[in-house]
Amino acid sequence: MTDSVNQTAVVIGASGGIGAALASQLQASGRYAAVHALSRSGTGFDLEDEASIAAAAARVAEGPAPALVFVATGVLHHGFEPERSWRALDAEHLLRDYRINAVGPALVAKHFLPLLPRDRPAVFTALSARVGSIGDNRLGGWHSYRASKAALNMLLRNLAVELGRTHPQAVIAGLHPGTVDTGLSAPFQKGVKPEKLFTAAYSADRLLSVIAGLTPADSGGVFAWDGARIPE
Ligand SMILES: NC(=O)c1ccc[n+]([C@@H]2O[C@H](COP(=O)([O-])OP(=O)(O)OC[C@H]3O[C@@H](n4cnc5c(N)ncnc54)[C@H](OP(=O)(O)O)[C@@H]3O)[C@@H](O)[C@H]2O)c1
Repeated sequence: MTDSVNQTAVVIGASGGIGAALASQLQASGRYAAVHALSRSGTGFDLEDEASIAAAAARVAEGPAPALVFVATGVLHHGFEPERSWRALDAEHLLRDYRINAVGPALVAKHFLPLLPRDRPAVFTALSARVGSIGDNRLGGWHSYRASKAALNMLLRNLAVELGRTHPQAVIAGLHPGTVDTGLSAPFQKGVKPEKLFTAAYSADRLLSVIAGLTPADSGGVFAWDGARIPE
């Protein structure tokens, strides 16, 4: 990374478990002139309102270019139970997860990728999930969430191909944070061994190490908290 006064970081979903930990670690790192911590509750940044995304990008554009845009938003339950069977499929559940987990990050990319510097390394990343891997899916279930994360992974790959043409030093990546003790995972933690349930601070620390090690050759991939590439 280069001179801290010349670069900023953006965390989208800074009110979330992992997003809050990321924002505070980025702030503490001293590597950025500013860390823009955006959230629905805090700054009126709503993934379902493109005008609010555009307005946030315009505010970020007033300062130094972001070297990191980290999308830490997402939804799993909140009003819907993840499906155990096709019998539970519900159009509104499918569309809600798709809107928040895939369409939202795509619109963030639309408004924030133009802010990335062309002459320096930069990273655009979004929290995905291992269950979004089609090749890794042996358990089934959670149709809406899985499908929305698979769609996110495809969008990230597509964006990486396009961005690579103009930003040869940039990286776009999806990340799997592990199973992390947050509101999102709270109803599903019963079977998780204590050593496999990460604190948000631990996961954020691992994820920041992973992205620090990514190169443009990795762009378009999805990586787990331990740096391992997740199959498509
Ligand atoms: N926790 C895990 O075990 C785990 C495992 C695999 C993947 N992940 C992924 O990691 C990401 C973050 O999860 P988390 O565990 O930190 O969850 P979390 O604590 O529930 O945080 C979710 C974040 O998403 C934001 N959000 C939801 N809908 C939004 C909208 N319409 N507009 C703007 N922001 C919105 C929330 O904002 P509000 O505060 O305004 O609601 C919150 O900041 C998700 O993509 C999740 O799929 C988590």
